[in-house]
Amino acid sequence: MKPLAEHKTRLILEEGCLDKKGELLLSLGERALILTGKNGAVRSGALADAIAALSANDQTFRIFDKISENPTTEVCREAAKEALNARADFILAIGGGSVMDAGKLVALLAATGEESGIDGFTDDLLYSADLSEAACLPIAVVGTTAGTGSEVTNIAVLTRNDGTKKGISAPCLYPAIAFADTRYTESMSPLTTCSTGLDALCHLLESYFSEEFDPRAEAICLEGISLAVGNLLHLQESEAYAKRSEFRKKMHKASLLGGYAIDLCRTAFPHMAGYALTEKTGLPHGLATALFLPVHLALAEEFMPERAQKMEKECGFSCQDISKLADSLVLSWLFVGDWHLSEDLLHGEEGRYETAANRKRTPSVPDAEELLDLAKERLSLVLSS
Ligand SMILES: [Fe+2]
Repeated sequence: MKPLAEHKTRLILEEGCLDKKGELLLSLGERALILTGKNGAVRSGALADAIAALSANDQTFRIFDKISENPTTEVCREAAKEALNARADFILAIGGGSVMDAGKLVALLAATGEESGIDGFTDDLLYSADLSEAACLPIAVVGTTAGTGSEVTNIAVLTRNDGTKKGISAPCLYPAIAFADTRYTESMSPLTTCSTGLDALCHLLESYFSEEFDPRAEAICLEGISLAVGNLLHLQESEAYAKRSEFRKKMHKASLLGGYAIDLCRTAFPHMAGYALTEKTGLPHGLATALFLPVHLALAEEFMPERAQKMEKECGFSCQDISKLADSLVLSWLFVGDWHLSEDLLHGEEGRYETAANRKRTPSVPDAEELLDLAKERLSLVLSS
């Protein structure tokens, strides 16, 4: 088991935290490179609050706002060069999981200290290197969604030059400080609210029903599952429920608990299977992942019956209850967007299923062929419904 002391993120879950605790940023240096996407940081009010905190600290900053959903390693290289030009001491990532994950890679690349070092950190090197001793610029994050959990993990999932998504992790990638103000999540669209909520649910369930389950994650998962499922059941009944602050607070907490869970247990089959759909169609990560959650839960029920019974006893929901909920929410959005979903999206996935560590965490560790067949069957069933 990993020593818990390895967890270095100082999480501040409090309304107005940037205003009240913004001086903590002083410990990270004098100059920040702020990373954002196009809209979320501004719309949520988080960027304005972060700038006010930096200004109150007499810290300077430059803004790089080109991080999009499913960010590429290439845009991270561009941002890392911007960090060098700005002589940034630290990275301040403001946004959802995409921006936070990009912030982690930017911090790693910028720590090379030279543009040639950034270019030299090719995808091949990045994904094969032993990063256990790697150094990063310090990272602070301000989340604007409730789902990723990236605030408290040392994981960054990026899209590589070949178009595939894959995660890296390293001890240095833990954000030093995570400002978690639930008010920033209130500006999420209904689609993002649902998709990110499902992402959090998957993090919790993939961790709880993992072949590499870490017992320290048990209480975290059970509390998170209760919160996430209870909330998503309300969301299923009425989209208006998401406007309530009670919903936002609970989903935000569930999302952070999901982050702690995957920090200990990592993700499993649904995340691995969902990547292909996101890469090839742009289907939002949470929807793509949750589409495969019922397969994971069916395997869990069969091969981890004691853990499934414990969840039902403690949380009041069975694997089948949760599968039905996930199905209903995924289907409510799946055919709304212009995602061009088709059954052949899983063609050519054999290599990923063979090599990804996610398969080894899936209940009963099915072989790659068997798991890919289950995924194809599932996709076909959903598309015909
Ligand atoms: Fe995820």
